[in-house]
Amino acid sequence: MMNKMKKNIAILPGDGIGPEVTSQGVKALSAIAEVYEHEFDYTEALVGAAAIDATGNPFPPETEEVCKKADAILFGAIGHPKYDDDPKAKVRPEQGLLAMRKKLGLFANVRPVTSYEALLPISPLKEEVIKGADFVVFRELTGGIYFGQPRGRSEDGTKAFDTCNYSKEEILKISKLAFEAAANRGKRVTLVDKANVLATSRLWRETVQELAKDYPSITLDFMFVDNAAMKIIQNPKYFDVVLTENMFGDIITDEASVISGSLGMLPSASIGAERSLFEPIHGSYPQAAGKNIANPFGAILSAAMLLEYAFGLVEESKVIQKAVMNVVDKGFVTEDINPGNAKTTEEVGDKVVETIHELSSVNS
Ligand code: IPM
Ligand code: MN
Repeated sequence: MMNKMKKNIAILPGDGIGPEVTSQGVKALSAIAEVYEHEFDYTEALVGAAAIDATGNPFPPETEEVCKKADAILFGAIGHPKYDDDPKAKVRPEQGLLAMRKKLGLFANVRPVTSYEALLPISPLKEEVIKGADFVVFRELTGGIYFGQPRGRSEDGTKAFDTCNYSKEEILKISKLAFEAAANRGKRVTLVDKANVLATSRLWRETVQELAKDYPSITLDFMFVDNAAMKIIQNPKYFDVVLTENMFGDIITDEASVISGSLGMLPSASIGAERSLFEPIHGSYPQAAGKNIANPFGAILSAAMLLEYAFGLVEESKVIQKAVMNVVDKGFVTEDINPGNAKTTEEVGDKVVETIHELSSVNS
């Protein structure tokens, strides 16, 4: 039985390549809406440098409103070199992203790492090491050193400090999601921390150890983050669900993208209690902005995660994932993957749409 849905989706293209890749994600969503007779309404809003230029604020109240009225949010990327080169800039685009995460309560960032058969040869890692790798990182997103107080500079400006703090409650919230995910996957959770040095990490261990008693079918193990950084590229197949705090998760997921062949491939879901946001893990890649060369798969796969996580549309989500897989297998890819025979961002997006229609007509 077909369950037709009517949903509002906030579209936040952001900066750099954000708008180009996000519109490919929207195309994929619209193709799904057409095939499955759902009704998706899109509302665009400004975020990041684009929002600073227009309003002085990287996450303006109008944008917050649009997000809060939406059933889900599709987001592109944030960041602009004119701010990166100016460490004294008072407002930074990234503050918009952090404010958005905090204000919308997006506490868990889910980043699946998959190896694509057709992309095995382009990874700098050996095929036999990455073939079959399939894990998911649960990165805590609204706590830790990213948000801890106090932070700042000493009065004379010669010292700076950041604070890392976590509460048991924050740790439990994301950890429960990680254990539930593991129950539907390979039944292993690896907590990545630095418990040999950090007090916050010891609280993570203690809390997660206690929680694990409620999930007897799940194997829990622990890994120091430095060791995990090595294991992720040495033996990625070891991992099933990786659970970690904010900054460690930021770092190891960029590293893990090497397994997929390109940073442009990886989607993510940022889960909130009320609504969730979906975004590729890559940044705004300003050098490529406006050139129609950026890899849209991360954004398209983020749209697939949106369908599954926000709307429970598992079949529709799988169709997008399968379409991406087919298009990648055909070598129909952007220059980051195949510089010798590169397709444009839009061509890749159109090919995914075409494939979505093909796959659905085969099924019906
Ligand atoms: C990410 C990004 C952000 C982060 C930056 C842009 C603030 O790297 O989403 O991983 O560090 O969280
Ligand atoms: Mn990052």
